[in-house]
Amino acid sequence: MSPQTIALITGGNRGLGRATALALAEAGTDVIVTYRSHQEEAAAVVDAVTALGRRAVALELDTTAFDTFPAFAAAVRDALGATWDRDTFDFLVNNAGVAAASPLGETTPDVFDLLTDVHFKGVFFLTQALLPLLADGGRIVNLSTGLTRFVSEGWSVYASLKSAVETYTRYLAKELGGRGISVNAVAPGPVGTDFGGGGIRDDEEFRALLAGQTALGRVGVPEDIGAVIAALLAPGTGWITAQRIEVSGGSLL
Ligand SMILES: NC(=O)c1ccc[n+]([C@@H]2O[C@H](COP(=O)([O-])OP(=O)(O)OC[C@H]3O[C@@H](n4cnc5c(N)ncnc54)[C@H](OP(=O)(O)O)[C@@H]3O)[C@@H](O)[C@H]2O)c1
Repeated sequence: MSPQTIALITGGNRGLGRATALALAEAGTDVIVTYRSHQEEAAAVVDAVTALGRRAVALELDTTAFDTFPAFAAAVRDALGATWDRDTFDFLVNNAGVAAASPLGETTPDVFDLLTDVHFKGVFFLTQALLPLLADGGRIVNLSTGLTRFVSEGWSVYASLKSAVETYTRYLAKELGGRGISVNAVAPGPVGTDFGGGGIRDDEEFRALLAGQTALGRVGVPEDIGAVIAALLAPGTGWITAQRIEVSGGSLL
């Protein structure tokens, strides 16, 4: 790894991706954030990272547009050359995601496909497309969810796909170990973001219910997750690999 580390964070324009970009920048890492539909938010993250004294680039990416991945990898290669005079980056954070409930008896194939594309197929094929650009000794963090440990009715498809991501994390850790790359899954509990319409952040009653189920007595804020991902990507923690690390304040213990 080069002394100046570079992280690529999918869905880095808002929510947990944005918090991760800022936590990494505070810790001295430069960032490439991807955005799908909010270029202005991504530009604001670039400005915030720059204000912290680090370099940042924003690139457009729909993680379900699989046939665009070769062109996206080429854009990453160009950005690495132009901004850092490098042909690799160090940390991949597979964060982009959407919420969609999948109640039994009411879930359509379209919802199933949407969730599969963004939460598993996209993670698999994007990682595959970017592996040649990931430096030996680098690291990958995949976002999972507390819902793979505890059950919340109506979320079976989303949670099952995140379980697939956790299994994929272990396979990647094994298969990339020879290159010195460590791979872990971070599994947040409920965090107040726009996710799922923003209810965890904005619905006081729902937030109180979730807080009551949490050992530390509140729902998470994006910075709780960004700090842990930055810690997992810090110097000295690379020996942690193939782990699911739950970051939930002790949800539903
Ligand atoms: N918040 C929680 O309670 C929670 C708990 C456990 C796990 N997670 C996981 O954490 C991750 C981030 O969630 P969040 O709370 O930060 O959600 P969020 O605030 O809704 O942000 C989601 C991000 O993902 C991007 N995204 C969505 N679909 C995409 C696609 N097809 N291609 C590229 N980017 C796409 C969004 O881009 P746009 O701005 O263009 O829409 C946005 O940047 C997700 O994987 C989620 O499953 C969240």
